[in-house]
Amino acid sequence: MNMWYRISFLACLLVTGCKSCTEQHDPSRSWELFKAEQQGANAIQPILQEDGSLPPLEAPSDDLSLNPTDKKYASLCASCHGANGAGDGPAGASMNPKPTNFVTWDYNNKLPDGWAGKTDEYIATIIAKGGSAVGKSALMAAWGGLFKEEELAAMVEKIKSFRQ
Ligand code: HEC
Repeated sequence: MNMWYRISFLACLLVTGCKSCTEQHDPSRSWELFKAEQQGANAIQPILQEDGSLPPLEAPSDDLSLNPTDKKYASLCASCHGANGAGDGPAGASMNPKPTNFVTWDYNNKLPDGWAGKTDEYIATIIAKGGSAVGKSALMAAWGGLFKEEELAAMVEKIKSFRQ
């Protein structure tokens, strides 16, 4: 009995292979992550000056210090309109109509009927009230609740700035 037990155990090992069981328990990935985190944490510790005071704050580098409008765009809009405004965000890939590509969008000439010459007002309206408020796709949601007036104006400028 014991013998059969061993044989069937070995047979099982042979069939399933041991790779998947060791893979699950392989701690090296966590260890690599831990090392990277530890290095990162150490790297941002300020080194005290000779008199024991903290060094003067340096301006953080560009990629860490997105301005508030860029941050809002990255977190609210980029998933559909793309990080660079090219309308290629992953969430918009299967939409029809597609999220507008702001790089090629000729907003001065291609506003929907009734908005001629009112570019800023049009862009602010669709951001705040959503696509359905201007006769466009309702997949463009109404974001007004997340914007103060000056933030909305800043976002309008950002959207226009994508155009090349
Ligand atoms: C869930 C996807 C999605 C998200 C997120 C999204 N949009 Fe849109 N947006 C769209 C779609 C789709 C359209 C195109 C509507 C149409 O053409 O009918 C659109 C259109 C627009 C337009 C109008 C352009 C035109 O062609 O008239 C502006 C401006 C705009 N979005 C700004 C924003 C801003 C700013 C944000 C973030 C606050 C945002 N969108 C977030 C899907 C999205």
